[in-house]
Amino acid sequence: MAQGPGCGSGGNQSPGRAGAGGSGGVAGSGGSAGSGGSATGAQTCVPPILIDQPAAKLSQSGCTDPTDSRKMAASVLPYEVNSPLWSDGADKERGLALPVGGKIRVKNCASTPADCQGAGDDGKWVLPVGTVLVKSFLFDGKLVETRLFVHFDAANWVGYSYRWDEAQTDASLVADERVEVAFDTGQRQVTWHIPSRMDCTTCHTPTGGSTLGPETAQMNRVVDGTNQIDRFKSLGLFEIAPATPYKAALPAPTGTVGTVEERARSYLHANCGFCHRPDDANFSSIDLRRDVALKDTNTCGAQAEKGNQGVPDSLIITPGQPTKSLVVLRMTAPPDDDAGKHGRMPKIASYVVDTAAVTLISDWITSLTACPQ
Ligand code: HEC
Ligand code: HEC
Repeated sequence: MAQGPGCGSGGNQSPGRAGAGGSGGVAGSGGSAGSGGSATGAQTCVPPILIDQPAAKLSQSGCTDPTDSRKMAASVLPYEVNSPLWSDGADKERGLALPVGGKIRVKNCASTPADCQGAGDDGKWVLPVGTVLVKSFLFDGKLVETRLFVHFDAANWVGYSYRWDEAQTDASLVADERVEVAFDTGQRQVTWHIPSRMDCTTCHTPTGGSTLGPETAQMNRVVDGTNQIDRFKSLGLFEIAPATPYKAALPAPTGTVGTVEERARSYLHANCGFCHRPDDANFSSIDLRRDVALKDTNTCGAQAEKGNQGVPDSLIITPGQPTKSLVVLRMTAPPDDDAGKHGRMPKIASYVVDTAAVTLISDWITSLTACPQ
């Protein structure tokens, strides 16, 4: 894990976050401590006034520390997820800025089934209008891009990208288009792809919940000695806090906790299940969310709808045979070209194969002796 220059693991809690056990807080913008009637103090990281006019510089967004734009603002709560999206090997830092008084609603599929597509959505967090999420991408501790994902109004979430300058002093807004960046980390040259704003919402779909990381199974994680959900709870950030014991954490795909199957399902959930879910039938009819029983995922023993990658007797998953399983073949296929052929999964924003994940998913498929009935 790269020790980035930002807030990831430094425990730099905001002075406004009394009760979070923080020490050595960074200086927030004027008078945030205890003001504003919110647990997080005055919120500086807010959506732009006009949807197509985000701040030109990241330092002007209110989401960074006024004295060091590499750090998140004091009113942005840093968090980590258990099972991250693979982004061509980048390290990441994440933060959440709730509007003053805004609360998180946690989906409870048992009591409110209409909120969910089956039990697979249980524990997803719904964030209020005015929320801003921050995610930064680093290689060798050097920032290449910071993304803001903004709940602009009831109908719209919108994403903005900022590209970091060479000197790491500030990042500039990227126009709404895909940009390929040659990035020198000081140790190596990295090719990095900044997505377009349209790309953001191709993954961050309304049906997938718009925000993709915040859910109980992802956030149920101890950071700096405190469970993140306990921390959010003590700050009073939930409408109704999740009941304890919290929903089982997604095991880290690259970790040693959990069986191969549990880690494989965790990976597929976090990297694929936000597109491959029942309400997005144009993404084929497979369902890769963790809590869906394997027999109901439409994968094991299932015929492909979108081609066979040149392997005639392949199936979506062929038990015992990863080389005849399209789940694996599609993770190693070349990226889609402009002709839109059926290539690499995830469908967009994936240029470097996640070899550790290919091994994990292959090991899991090898271990399957038959498809469950
Ligand atoms: C390939 C699909 C994909 C694309 C394209 C994508 N994201 Fe994400 N993003 C994810 C997933 C999955 C997560 C949650 C897992 C994580 O944080 O590692 C996430 C997390 C985030 C977060 C943290 C909040 C959250 O929803 O979990 C922000 C902020 C974010 N993305 C912004 C953006 C912006 C802005 C763009 C476009 C410039 C973008 N993303 C494009 C898949 C994508
Ligand atoms: C951004 C949304 C998105 C993400 C994320 C995504 N997929 Fe897909 N997937 C699609 C779309 C769209 C199709 C259908 C078009 C095509 O075949 O390229 C598809 C097709 C597939 C197919 C072929 C299904 C068939 O019936 O032939 C497989 C297998 C697959 N995806 C696996 C995965 C895996 C594994 C992941 C995660 C590593 C993943 N996908 C992530 C959008 C996505």
